[in-house]
Amino acid sequence: MSNRLKVTPNDLSAFWMPFTANRQFKQAPRMFVSAKDMHYTTSDGRKVLDGTAGLWCVNAGHCRPKITEAIQSQAAELDYAPAFQMGHPIVFELANRLVDIAPKGMDHVFFTNSGSESVETALKMAIAYHRVRGEGSRTRLIGRERGYHGVNFGGISVGGIVSNRKMFGTLLGGVDHLPHTHLPEKNAFSKGVPEHGAELANDLERLIALHDASTIAAVIVEPVAGSTGVILPPKGYLQKLREICTKHGILLIFDEVITGFGRLGAPFAADYFGVTPDIMTTAKGVSNGVIPMGAVFVKKEIHDAFMTGPEHMIEFFHGYTYSGNPIACAAALGTLDTYKEEGLLTRGEELAPYWEDALHSLKGEPHVIDIRNIGLIGAIELAPIAGSPTKRAFSAFVKAFERGALIRTTGDIIALSPPLIITKGQINELIDHVRDVLRSID
Ligand SMILES: Cc1ncc(COP(=O)(O)O)c(C=O)c1O
Repeated sequence: MSNRLKVTPNDLSAFWMPFTANRQFKQAPRMFVSAKDMHYTTSDGRKVLDGTAGLWCVNAGHCRPKITEAIQSQAAELDYAPAFQMGHPIVFELANRLVDIAPKGMDHVFFTNSGSESVETALKMAIAYHRVRGEGSRTRLIGRERGYHGVNFGGISVGGIVSNRKMFGTLLGGVDHLPHTHLPEKNAFSKGVPEHGAELANDLERLIALHDASTIAAVIVEPVAGSTGVILPPKGYLQKLREICTKHGILLIFDEVITGFGRLGAPFAADYFGVTPDIMTTAKGVSNGVIPMGAVFVKKEIHDAFMTGPEHMIEFFHGYTYSGNPIACAAALGTLDTYKEEGLLTRGEELAPYWEDALHSLKGEPHVIDIRNIGLIGAIELAPIAGSPTKRAFSAFVKAFERGALIRTTGDIIALSPPLIITKGQINELIDHVRDVLRSID
């Protein structure tokens, strides 16, 4: 990289940063200039341990050779091919490879460029699926409070994060929400999935009684909600959702954008929980976050329902210019090779008990009111500063960065999701950073 790009530019104003307090950031910028395996390097030359796999995406760690080489050679060979009415071999190869590791029955893959696009694709597929089968009245979508499904209009409509919704008008019509499953009064400091709250799934029956099943296309949930501060499904909850959806002919969509590709110690949360959805949205870990890519997995019955009518007709009027972009496909194949060679899709299972003990050793530290964990995900919930919610966790984030660890905060919750290559020593290091930070903040 040229030195020019390694120094901090002296005018930061042109770039309107996403999900960032722009004015605050630009007064004291935090810049990464390179990365390798478990570490970032900052513009002032410090190493920072990655406790969040970037944004829940760099599951194989940074700048992994197989992925870098795959991208480099693909860029020199076939840079782009039109995504509509044309193909190129590696997009088909990638789809086959993904189907090979997907839960049984999820036989088809539709490519997108992000989690948000995967969600929009899944919602549209669900509604269109019912229509092609002659059940066009099924158009309603059910999401969940505190759900995060990206930032496009469908995703924020089924999502349940007030700040992501309130500025943007009336959103999609015909959407309702299940209650969230965060029950700290009953489940605080649970290890793994909490005991209490499976009955919250029965609320779906209430919504069905209210709207009638014949108007409902799909239910979408994150098997484990990440972006709203790691909210776990109570024991039996996802199974109940599955049963109710099946009973009423409603499609179940799992948004596996963060849980996909090994985060829980199984390839997908569907495998971990033994519950297979009808549609599964993924992104992030599919290409190790290196090149934007998303993949929507679909059951054969859903795909096949579209494959009717005259053969010269397009079956699904949806797609993106960069769906299955060759360089993104190469990155994803390099990623899958790396996952396979290093056993990363199941490595979390072996590390999870160590991770759990390390995280829960923070119980009793200042401000900590709950700790939650599953696979290689952890959350440490802090008591908010009275009258200034989010401020305490944000100062923990800044302090951790200064000390040499990247953590992520949402509300007053610290969320951790390291690359799946993390060692036990690095888990200790990460948790020690958090402990020191908690002891040093007000
Ligand atoms: C469950 C879930 N769905 C969708 C998204 C949106 O993904 P993207 O930012 O790639 O659009 C995210 C991002 O964190 C996510 O966690």
